Amino acid sequence: MKPEASSQPAAETLTDLRSFFQRTFASPPTRVVQAPGRLELLGNHTDYNLGLVMSLAVDKYIFMASAPRHDGRIELASSAFAEREKFACDRIEKNAAAPWANYVKGVLLQLRRHGVNFSGFNAAIHGTIPLGAGLSSSAALETATALTLRQLYPFTLTESGAATPPRRNSRGELPSLDRKEKMALAKACLAAESEFVGVNCGLLDQISALFGKAGHVIQIDCLQLSVAHEPLAAGLSVIVCDSGVKHELVAGEYNERRRHCESAARSLGVKALRFVTPSELEAGKTHLSEVDYRCAYHIVGENQRVIFGERALREGDIDQFGQYLFQSHESSRDFFKNSCPELDLLVELARAHPGCLGARLTGGGFGGATINLVREAEAKSFTQTMARQYQERTGRRLEPLVCRVVDGAR
Ligand code: GLA
Repeated sequence: MKPEASSQPAAETLTDLRSFFQRTFASPPTRVVQAPGRLELLGNHTDYNLGLVMSLAVDKYIFMASAPRHDGRIELASSAFAEREKFACDRIEKNAAAPWANYVKGVLLQLRRHGVNFSGFNAAIHGTIPLGAGLSSSAALETATALTLRQLYPFTLTESGAATPPRRNSRGELPSLDRKEKMALAKACLAAESEFVGVNCGLLDQISALFGKAGHVIQIDCLQLSVAHEPLAAGLSVIVCDSGVKHELVAGEYNERRRHCESAARSLGVKALRFVTPSELEAGKTHLSEVDYRCAYHIVGENQRVIFGERALREGDIDQFGQYLFQSHESSRDFFKNSCPELDLLVELARAHPGCLGARLTGGGFGGATINLVREAEAKSFTQTMARQYQERTGRRLEPLVCRVVDGAR
């Protein structure tokens, strides 16, 4: 299947996906769902510290076409991998030869644990989210799986398990998910990732994929588990620059930072760093190891920047908002130490461009990508300058990605 240009309408991709399904399974799909990638805008590593985050759902997707089967078997095909993955509903296990299928399997196991019944299906997956670029194709695949299962075997997920299934309307459509149910699905997808895949991350990615709103910033409070939306100022382009650096120990480094945050919270006598103000952190500094303090300093500062950023965004003070992005990156670089020379260079180059309002690493870090807020009129000059300068300085190719802010999974 050909890769999607960012301007290509989703409709064309869907036609390709349907024919991929037809070619693979010799019958047409009965359901198609799509889940977007996400970008962390502000609030780095705050999610698992029960803090505040701003994110965007963007127009790069995982699409999943499916049809039910009744022999208790599941078959998955992905346009990115040659081999199909086949297994029985009652034997959902990891296969080292198909690690990409773990995200699907993890979600199936979680949903079953919540009382959701299913008897098998075929699914064809196609993604337009660049892999490893920090857009969380994994959360998109997880949420696409959950929505596929809901389409094929309708269920309502509540905090206490599956409840009476929703009814389809006369056109065979299910009602859209309400907030509570989206949150319950996000949690199930997160549990799949931490328990089955083994990365101990927070809820940012799954919430973003489900709660996206076109043209809006998603504001997440990970303590209250609440979500609000604020329009992103008009005339801005959101541009992703993938450093091309893939850190081999990402999961290890990520989980290690998380342990330092938790250890800092324990030493300060609180449940999570969300409950610590900047002055409390300074007062408790002597109780913390140097590395615990640095990590806590970053998290406490990030929560503050999100609070200040919300004010700036609401009042249309986008120049100031951009400054918080730069500050966030400096804090990652100097305190949390989840940046790398290539990400630092990308931010330095972006900052020197007159059209750039703000730039920072986005997501876990240790490689991956930066997010850049750029005046729309200067977006072309920005992408060209960045690509040229990054190649000159590092010898690496850079293809900046201009993203549209879109609705969540459906
Ligand atoms: C990764 C994780 C998220 C979040 C970010 C950092 O993307 O999956 O849960 O912790 O890193 O903010």
